[in-house]
Amino acid sequence: MWVLFASVWVLSITAVVVETSFTTRPSNQIVIENTTVTFHCNATGDPTPKITWTKDDKILGEGNTLIFVAYRNQSGQYKCTADSGRNLTINASAFLDVQFPPSFTSEPTDQTVIEGETVTFHCDAAGNPPLEIVWIKDGRTVDQGQELSLQASRELSGKYWCSVQNGLGISVNISAQLDVQFPPTIISAPKDETIMEGASVTFHCNATGNPPARITWIKDGKTVSSGNVLTFNTSRNQSGEYWCTAENGLNSTVNASTSLDVQFPPKIISRPSNQTVLENEEVKLHCAAIGNPIPKILWIKDGITIGTGENLMLKAWRNASGTYTCMAKNLLNATEISNAHIDVQCKYK
Ligand SMILES: *[C@@H]1O[C@H](CO)[C@@H](O)[C@H](O)[C@H]1NC(C)=O
Ligand SMILES: *[C@@H]1O[C@H](CO)[C@@H](O)[C@H](O)[C@H]1NC(C)=O
Ligand SMILES: *[C@@H]1O[C@H](CO)[C@@H](O)[C@H](O)[C@H]1NC(C)=O
Ligand SMILES: *[C@@H]1O[C@H](CO)[C@@H](O)[C@H](O)[C@H]1NC(C)=O
Ligand SMILES: *[C@@H]1O[C@H](CO)[C@@H](O)[C@H](O)[C@H]1NC(C)=O
Ligand SMILES: *[C@@H]1O[C@H](CO)[C@@H](O)[C@H](O)[C@H]1NC(C)=O
Ligand SMILES: *[C@@H]1O[C@H](CO)[C@@H](O)[C@H](O)[C@H]1NC(C)=O
Ligand SMILES: *[C@@H]1O[C@H](CO)[C@@H](O)[C@H](O)[C@H]1NC(C)=O
Ligand SMILES: *[C@@H]1O[C@H](CO)[C@@H](O)[C@H](O)[C@H]1NC(C)=O
Ligand SMILES: *[C@@H]1O[C@H](CO)[C@@H](O)[C@H](O)[C@H]1NC(C)=O
Ligand SMILES: *[C@@H]1O[C@H](CO)[C@@H](O)[C@H](O)[C@H]1NC(C)=O
Ligand SMILES: *[C@@H]1O[C@H](CO)[C@@H](O)[C@H](O)[C@H]1NC(C)=O
Repeated sequence: MWVLFASVWVLSITAVVVETSFTTRPSNQIVIENTTVTFHCNATGDPTPKITWTKDDKILGEGNTLIFVAYRNQSGQYKCTADSGRNLTINASAFLDVQFPPSFTSEPTDQTVIEGETVTFHCDAAGNPPLEIVWIKDGRTVDQGQELSLQASRELSGKYWCSVQNGLGISVNISAQLDVQFPPTIISAPKDETIMEGASVTFHCNATGNPPARITWIKDGKTVSSGNVLTFNTSRNQSGEYWCTAENGLNSTVNASTSLDVQFPPKIISRPSNQTVLENEEVKLHCAAIGNPIPKILWIKDGITIGTGENLMLKAWRNASGTYTCMAKNLLNATEISNAHIDVQCKYK
């Protein structure tokens, strides 16, 4: 009787003591994407607990193990619930971290802007562990993060690399080109030239600008040439002002001017004529010359300079007969002469 009593008591005690408890709990795991993941969970209890796996309140499976190939969107908390059916529910959880190398989800694009404008490059990537995005130009890090914003100035043109890496030792990069356009500026203007006719003259003109500036040469409103260098063999009708004009399509044209002075020696174009005059008459001799610089005209008789200028007026004295020389000279060491003979005839002999 006592024995029976005792055993019933023992049994009832035993029934209360058999609680649901885990013998194996799932453990945290870090895996590379596309590898197979196995979570283990085992529990004792009476009745034998039923194991259920959940993530984000969604049931994934039942049983002691949960096996799957890990994809990048499967990181998170995995819960194992052991249910013995009498509201004796216990649970355990583990975290899965699915790692994968960076790959671009948004790539920067080449951009062309006018100097002064603001330009923004975008770059983004997926990856786990979290990514570090840096922007690199000419080997130097210029910024970090998904956006690179710049106030465009000419020296910022070039290649920008968006470089992404995470802790997996793999980095990826991609580049985009920035082209900052700016209007032309003349950096080397042509210099004034004075030159002898027939010699060759060369003018240089250079301008910055992006796109590169086109240079044209203009004289008297007409385009005479194009390119950085203007060179030609001079002739007297080419003296004057030459304009170097630079433009690159950005609605801003700049220019610089220079003057060319083509010098040439005197040439008499109107010669004094031989004259026979009566004594005491007024005699007028005319002589004209061209040249650059403008020639000076001298009148010479018997080795003596007797006047200057195009016209020589004189009274025909008896002794005025003779050879009159018109001499045209300019600063160049060249002269031209023309002689006229005056024969004074006496009224009374
Ligand atoms: C679960 O645990 C029980 C008791 O420890 C053991 O008998 C059983 O084999 C385990 N099952 C698995 C699948 O490990
Ligand atoms: C994970 O991504 C795959 C492929 O894109 C998709 O089929 C699946 O539904 C996603 N799962 C979750 C939990 O978002
Ligand atoms: C078990 O849970 C259900 C619903 O949660 C509840 O209605 C019931 O009273 C619980 N039973 C015991 C014995 O706690
Ligand atoms: C997991 O167990 C804890 C107690 O250990 C409980 O508070 C929680 O509600 C349970 N969660 C689920 C999803 O069963
Ligand atoms: C895993 O497989 C998917 C589909 O084939 C692929 O897109 C992804 O790049 C793979 N991940 C890794 C880390 O190789
Ligand atoms: C970008 O990656 C290539 C290899 O893919 C490497 O040669 C290059 O140096 C990298 N550039 C930068 C700026 O990281
Ligand atoms: C114009 O100037 C630039 C910058 O100084 C120089 O690189 C280039 O060679 C020059 N061009 C000419 C035709 O002189
Ligand atoms: C200038 O003249 C020289 C010879 O007189 C000739 O060889 C040369 O081609 C000429 N240059 C130009 C630009 O006309
Ligand atoms: C300048 O003179 C040269 C001859 O010396 C001639 O061939 C040319 O047509 C002239 N040009 C002008 C613009 O008068
Ligand atoms: C060029 O500039 C002028 C004056 O600065 C302006 O009136 C004109 O609209 C501009 N044209 C273009 C195409 O930008
Ligand atoms: C002027 O007179 C001189 C000497 O008498 C003569 O040689 C010359 O040919 C004359 N000139 C003209 C234009 O008649
Ligand atoms: C002109 O000639 C003089 C003497 O013959 C000489 O001393 C001078 O240097 C020359 N000038 C030029 C510009 O040729």
